Amino acid sequence: MPLEREIEIRRLHGDAEMARLYDLRAAMLRPGRPVAENHYPTDYLPTTIHLGAFYQGQCIGIASLYEEVGLHLRGMVVAPAWQGYGVGAALLHRVQQQATRIRMPLWCNARDSAMGFYAKLGWWVEGDGFELPGVGPHHRMRWVPAETNAAVEESSDALLCEGRRQRRRD
Ligand SMILES: CC(C)(COP(=O)(O)OP(=O)(O)OC[C@H]1O[C@@H](n2cnc3c(N)ncnc32)[C@H](O)[C@@H]1OP(=O)(O)O)[C@@H](O)C(=O)NCCC(=O)NCCS
Repeated sequence: MPLEREIEIRRLHGDAEMARLYDLRAAMLRPGRPVAENHYPTDYLPTTIHLGAFYQGQCIGIASLYEEVGLHLRGMVVAPAWQGYGVGAALLHRVQQQATRIRMPLWCNARDSAMGFYAKLGWWVEGDGFELPGVGPHHRMRWVPAETNAAVEESSDALLCEGRRQRRRD
C-alpha cells in the first residue's frame, strides 16, 4: 500500500481516542442499536489493549484485545473511506505480533462477511457457524503464534468449551 509508511499503529490514549473507538464501533458494528452495546464490560481492565490505526493524527481503524481464554479480538473496524488499503491488515499484523510476544492464542467471533479478511492473515475457522441476534451470522476463528503450538494444544479444549459458553458479540 503506498500509504503504508504513513499509517501508525499504536495504543489508544485518553478519553477523546476512546470516544472515537466507540463512535467507530457504533457506526460500523451496531448501526441503529443501543449505544451501550458498544461498551464491553472488559474495556477498561488493565489487561485490555485498544489499538488504533492513525493517519495524520486521525484514528481510521481500531481493534481491541481482551485476555479471555487466550486473547480475544473484538471490535475490529476500519473507517469506510479507508477500507481496502491494507489498514485492517496492518492492525491485524500488530494484533498477531502482540499475541506472539506474550505467547497467547488469538480468537474472535468473525462476522461471516469478514471471514475472508481473517483467512488472508492466516486465521482459520473453528466449529459451526452461529447467529448473534440483531448482528448476523458468525464463525469462531483463531490464530496461533507458531511458538505456542504445544501450549495451545493443551488449552484448545478449554477454549472450545469456554467459547460455547461465551458466544458473545465480536
Ligand atoms: C473487515 C475490515 C476490518 C477489513 O479492513 P480493510 O482495511 O478493508 O482490509 P485490508 O485492506 O487490510 O485487506 C486485507 C486483505 O483482506 C481482504 N479483505 C478485506 N476485507 C475482506 C472481506 N470482508 N472479505 C474477504 N476479504 C477481505 C482484502 O481484499 C485484502 O486482500 P489482499 O491482501 O489479497 O489484497 C473492514 O472491511 C471493516 O471494518 N469492515 C466492517 C466492520 C467489520 O465487519 N469488522 C469485522 C468484524 S468481525
